[in-house]
Amino acid sequence: MLHFSAMQTTLSLNDLYRPVQQELEEVRAGVGDLWQDALRLVHGNDAPRPPVGGKMLRPALCLLSARASGAKDTAHFVPLATAMELLHLAALAHDDVIDGADLRRGVRSLNALWDNHTAVLGGDYLVARAINIMSCYDSCAVITSAIDSVRQMAEGELQNFGLGRDHYSIEACISLARQKTASLFAVTCSTPSCLIPGATGEPFYAYGMALGIAFQLVDDLLDLTQNTETLGKPALGDIVEGKKTVPILYMRETLDADGIARLEDMKGGELTDADRAWVAALLESSGAREKTEALAREYADEARAALHAVSPSTYRDCMIGLAEFVLVRGS
Ligand code: IPE
Ligand code: IPE
Ligand code: MG
Ligand code: MG
Repeated sequence: MLHFSAMQTTLSLNDLYRPVQQELEEVRAGVGDLWQDALRLVHGNDAPRPPVGGKMLRPALCLLSARASGAKDTAHFVPLATAMELLHLAALAHDDVIDGADLRRGVRSLNALWDNHTAVLGGDYLVARAINIMSCYDSCAVITSAIDSVRQMAEGELQNFGLGRDHYSIEACISLARQKTASLFAVTCSTPSCLIPGATGEPFYAYGMALGIAFQLVDDLLDLTQNTETLGKPALGDIVEGKKTVPILYMRETLDADGIARLEDMKGGELTDADRAWVAALLESSGAREKTEALAREYADEARAALHAVSPSTYRDCMIGLAEFVLVRGS
């Protein structure tokens, strides 16, 4: 759990998802079917049904946004929410190849299970299945909107490759978070409005974008504060990969030449307990944790403010709660 001063939260995802819980279970089951299809292609018909883990944040946001936009029926949006989770899974498959990560949601990542080539194809397959599913709405606007996030995610990663690992810019980190992470949140929240007569997607897009940036900033902090078991993905992976995240840049700003050399030495290596303790202490002593949390809170506040333009409802309340949840989550 992050510190977020004086933050005593009773927020739980179960509570925040409650108004769309049943449909969210349908999404989880649908994702399980599609995931099994993908595994069967590689492992044959005996492939076991994989557990579908993850927080299901994007499909939940899709369903909540649909109802907060004025939709009367949540069930109509189950295929859309399923497609959004598949786009997320595809992004994770590609991301784990890029980051060389061998663990995802507590199990071997696709690149570790198969290899990089197959994992990239697996990700592409999931994007294709997502588009197939969305075609049930017979709406060009839905497909165009969803594909825009795929474009933004790819553009973000490509620009990041161009920048290389040796940039030291907080602005570049935020720009990458906007593209690789927040664009899918924005699209997830705004696309339902394409299917609701008279609805406008703009406040939902603005909410999703700001929420997604806050989410990524907290993800970057959790990488430094939580263990691998809690995260279900490699802890301190960003340090080992030599990534420049916002908290890492804030820590780095305070280091002398020896400290910077120590940080850089951790790249690509096996971390010792002493390394882990050093990073944990530095995160506090440098003020990096506090500064990153403050920045994440600014974006979460921006997300909440965007919802002022939306009529009050239980669904909107849950979205407001999720803007708090992303700050205080522990994984
Ligand atoms: C992980 O997203 C990727 C990022 C955008 C940081 P989540 O933390 O939502 O992953 P799952 O879906 O819960 O596994
Ligand atoms: C977010 O970046 C990745 C995606 C948006 C797919 P990260 O590289 O920080 O995500 P994790 O930490 O591996 O989940
Ligand atoms: Mg990653
Ligand atoms: Mg991360």
